Amino acid sequence: MTVTRSNLVSGLDVDCIPDAPIGPMTWYGIGGRADMLISPHSIESAAEIIRRCRQGRVPVRMLGGGANLLIDDDGVDGVVLRLDHVCFRRQVFNRTGSVTAARIGGGVDLFGLVTELARRGLSGCEHLAGIPGTLGGAIRMNAGGSGGDVASALESVDMVLLDGSLRTFGQHELESGYRSTSLPHGLVTGAVLQLKEDDPVDVRDRVKRYFAAKKASQPMADHSAGCAFRNPLDSESGERVSAGRLIDESGLKGVSSGGARISERHANFIVVEPGASSRDVQSLMNLVRGRVADATGVELEREVVVWSRRALS
Ligand code: EPU
Repeated sequence: MTVTRSNLVSGLDVDCIPDAPIGPMTWYGIGGRADMLISPHSIESAAEIIRRCRQGRVPVRMLGGGANLLIDDDGVDGVVLRLDHVCFRRQVFNRTGSVTAARIGGGVDLFGLVTELARRGLSGCEHLAGIPGTLGGAIRMNAGGSGGDVASALESVDMVLLDGSLRTFGQHELESGYRSTSLPHGLVTGAVLQLKEDDPVDVRDRVKRYFAAKKASQPMADHSAGCAFRNPLDSESGERVSAGRLIDESGLKGVSSGGARISERHANFIVVEPGASSRDVQSLMNLVRGRVADATGVELEREVVVWSRRALS
């Protein structure tokens, strides 16, 4: 089926931009366009779009905050769904009884969420301080840092699955691992977080500490998509080892390809200069994988998701 505005969005409450420049919407800020960018104004519209895409065999991709994403220079085919409408950015707090919970939309920005929780004296997400992106994206890839991952803060997750059905998954149904979740593919529309009441000053201090630790070791002011590669498992110890350390020990800090460069501050960050292309980043990733394999025998696996016309990843 050809992707046209009329057969995909007729009768639905959505914003729809054909041939949309989505590269600049990512943290890298580079890469091409999407055939169709759609922002639904309700969960039902999002579900119907996903259903129509499936029926028409149109590829559909979900764009969170674009924090862990590289768009190919040639862009992507099909539909990109973006949860930037206010209905996906609601934050509802419930402090009745002994349970404190927050129902948060999948399109809510993590930086803002962590700050808002600290302001309200709600503890449970401090370890997410400094992690960019939306809550939905963070849940999808089980983002985390030194203090743990987002899965540890979840009570339940609301999703639209790829057949267009709506499902809520309780904590007991979720299995999570290193940057992975057992959630099926689909759109994370929101989640209920498990939180504890605490002194706002204490919560804010912990947020500050996590943020400062990240800032001290990572190039947070540069354009990047966080760590480019997953930390591999060491076959002898069974522990994960820092991909950044392996890249550093392979002598690659500062190495560049066009406008993309291995950060001097943390070698698992590929940072880009104005004018860089997606091809520059992908060439550098290939160079890193080859050089680290030669130097250490370890095959690095990409953490950054790459969208292209060639493959739906
Ligand atoms: N190291 C080096 N050189 C480098 C980078 C690190 O020698 O260029 C050494 C450090 O000195 C330290 C060790 O490697 O002794 C571990 O470094 P770090 O604490 O920075 O942790 P990491 O394993 O490299 C992981 C996550 C980060 C997360 C930090 C929190 C992955 C791929 N990376 O990095 O997550 O913020 O722990 O401590 O899991 C991300 O996923 O995008 C990300 C940034």
